[in-house]
Amino acid sequence: MNELVRVSLQDDVGVVTIDNPPVNALSSAVAKSLAAAVLELAGNDSIRSIVVLGSGSTFIAGADIRELAQIGAGEAPPLDLLSPLKSIEDSPKPVVMAIHGAALGGGLEAAMSGHYRVAVPGAQLGMPEVKLGLIPGAGGTQRLPRLVGPVQAAEMCIEGRSMGAREARDLGLVDEIAEGELLPYALRFARQIASRPIRKTRDRDEKLRSVDPAKLQALRARVATEPPSRARVAALDAIQASIELPFDTGCQREAELFNACLQSVESRAAIHLFFAERAAAKIPGLAGSPKRFEIRKVAVVGAGTMGTGITTAFAQSGIPVLLKEVSEEALGRGMANIRANFDRAVGKGRLTQQAAEDRVAGIHPQIDFTGFEQVDLVVEAVFEDLAVKQTVMADLSKTVRPECILATNTSSLDVDAIASGSGRADKTIGLHFFSPANVMRLLEVVPGAQTDPDVTAACMAMGKRLGKFAVVAGNRPGFIGNRAFRPYLREGRFLVEEGASVEEVNEALVRFGMGMGPLAVDDLIGIDVSRHIEEQFGRSDPASVRRSALLEALYRAGSFGQKTGRGWSDYGADRKPRPNPELAALAEDDAAKAGTKRRHISPDEIVDRCICSLINEGARILEEGTAYRASDIDVVFVHGYGFPAWRGGPMFYADTIGLDTVLAKVQGFQERFGSDLWAPAPLLAELARSGGTFSG
Ligand code: 3HC
Ligand code: NAI
Repeated sequence: MNELVRVSLQDDVGVVTIDNPPVNALSSAVAKSLAAAVLELAGNDSIRSIVVLGSGSTFIAGADIRELAQIGAGEAPPLDLLSPLKSIEDSPKPVVMAIHGAALGGGLEAAMSGHYRVAVPGAQLGMPEVKLGLIPGAGGTQRLPRLVGPVQAAEMCIEGRSMGAREARDLGLVDEIAEGELLPYALRFARQIASRPIRKTRDRDEKLRSVDPAKLQALRARVATEPPSRARVAALDAIQASIELPFDTGCQREAELFNACLQSVESRAAIHLFFAERAAAKIPGLAGSPKRFEIRKVAVVGAGTMGTGITTAFAQSGIPVLLKEVSEEALGRGMANIRANFDRAVGKGRLTQQAAEDRVAGIHPQIDFTGFEQVDLVVEAVFEDLAVKQTVMADLSKTVRPECILATNTSSLDVDAIASGSGRADKTIGLHFFSPANVMRLLEVVPGAQTDPDVTAACMAMGKRLGKFAVVAGNRPGFIGNRAFRPYLREGRFLVEEGASVEEVNEALVRFGMGMGPLAVDDLIGIDVSRHIEEQFGRSDPASVRRSALLEALYRAGSFGQKTGRGWSDYGADRKPRPNPELAALAEDDAAKAGTKRRHISPDEIVDRCICSLINEGARILEEGTAYRASDIDVVFVHGYGFPAWRGGPMFYADTIGLDTVLAKVQGFQERFGSDLWAPAPLLAELARSGGTFSG
């Protein structure tokens, strides 16, 4: 045929193998070739049935997302997967889709255009389009309800969850589980069904007739409360069409809804993030190989907040961990926290009790260095104190094998300073996990000046094994995330000083889509910790830079946030924020002393001040090389700081509103609030003037 699909004959069964590495994405060209191959085999008199399968590690991971991005940008003709899939369904010889790996989105839609589906037990099936701000666009919203029923189909499309083969079989999506090798099983199955009458998915409407409209209505009510809901609502509309309209008209309706979603900013943002997450794993110019430093067994030093989270993350991934503390008491506390993490995972149905016990059994708590000579990586998570960390590194250097990687989880110290004196700067690296480390998916990987590139590559690969998005960050204060988050938090504090209430500031940012408002973040990390960070960073600020008097006042009053029950807000046992009754007076007092007149501040100004300061700092981070690409900053903020994924991250968001607009806002704030805080980053100014973008 051609290079995208291969055709072979196995006696009376024709076999079509899709060969579009790495994941057999269903581009228009693949779909066309697939349909042509099926039709060619169907016309062969010696063939009684046809098997379609994917080469390599998967069936079809979905429509080709690169092509979707081109279509969305008007650089490629509209998607047409519907007609090739319809031709497959029209084959006069039965088509058996043989599934391994992923049959997601367009992959599942292709599978449903066959007459039968067999899947290996480990196969994953689902409709993840919603995660890309889309709905299925290759007949999926019309065929899926016919196989699993409209309510189940709607749930699959609005949640984007994938399922294993057995669950898919129980729902009617898969006909048989292929035990043993897939192709021989599929061939046997294809011979068994060869003489049965063809049953097209689009003709099977029994399940459409028995739908409970109240359940669909309940799903509609649910999505209305989940922003951004465009794709979810569109998915429900398309599924409704499957009940009300004939198949072909339903498909037309689906196409209209799909195209509208594809043009939306949310979809462009989500597709940007999909590629950003994968681009982050690639280090420009790094010839390093993760193979030289294979990480099989690890150790963690310190069983506090971070050490326990990091240990849980390793154990969750089945990596054996030695966990070292200074005392049995601290170790006992740490292990209790780790067990609680696993209990929560069992409670949420993510792990079986047995699996949780096995994972915990893979952790070896200890107060000495026994066994450290066998580990491939040590992560230290002791106090944030340079001298303490240097001592730990020196002790480790004497204990571990020469090729063992030493990582520090420091959030603010210089990785080179921590490595100095250990004699192993080439094997030392920063691995900045985020709290809670077993949940948060961001990992900043911070090579020092002398870190061996193979060590960096090994840590990036390990990040992926832990299910994290690993991003390389330069060894500069605050790395990427904390550095650009600082001005965001700072503006949040200033806004209260100038007249906004804490609630107004937090609500404006939450409405913008942030997971939490800036002052709620301050209260969570602790006013004492925030102040300490400000002091550390502030050392390099010019003397004229404004400081937050209210942060200082809260600190002096011992109002450290959630942990003391009072900070920017008050907190009861339920941890829900309530207005701090003393704050308004503090703010008035502070304004009187500073001679500022408090004023009403609009939600738009609140958002602009916080978000533009973040973007401006992001531009500096980019121009000085602390991040390799703008999209790395997006990955950091979406996965580490609660920036709304549907806006694509701060740098992509800046591109969507226009860098000239961002620059104008920054210059406006510079005029009002002074140049030390609001000087536009040269890169922002240059791109805005030349009509460029961060992501371009
Ligand atoms: N289109 C284009 N490229 C894809 C792709 C797709 N659907 N899925 C994965 N890739 C690429 C990745 O960009 C990556 O490329 P790179 O090596 O150049 O960076 C490579 O394949 C490997 O991907 P991963 O690193 O993600 O590999 P994993 O093994 O970790 O995961 C996977 C495999 C679970 C299949 C994961 O890639 C995935 O979730 N893919 C996307 C699935 C999806 O969203 N499908 C729906 C697409 S939209 C659609 O189908 C619309 C339709 O209804 C019309
Ligand atoms: P923590 O105070 O909760 O825990 C530190 C633990 O280290 C304590 O249990 C202590 O007993 C132990 N320890 C101290 N010296 C030790 C030694 N020589 N050997 C073994 N154990 C020792 O601190 P936390 O919050 O876990 O922070 C740890 C590190 O992680 C710090 O560098 C911090 O900056 C960083 N970090 C913290 C984040 C957070 O949100 N808490 C986020 C990201 C990084």
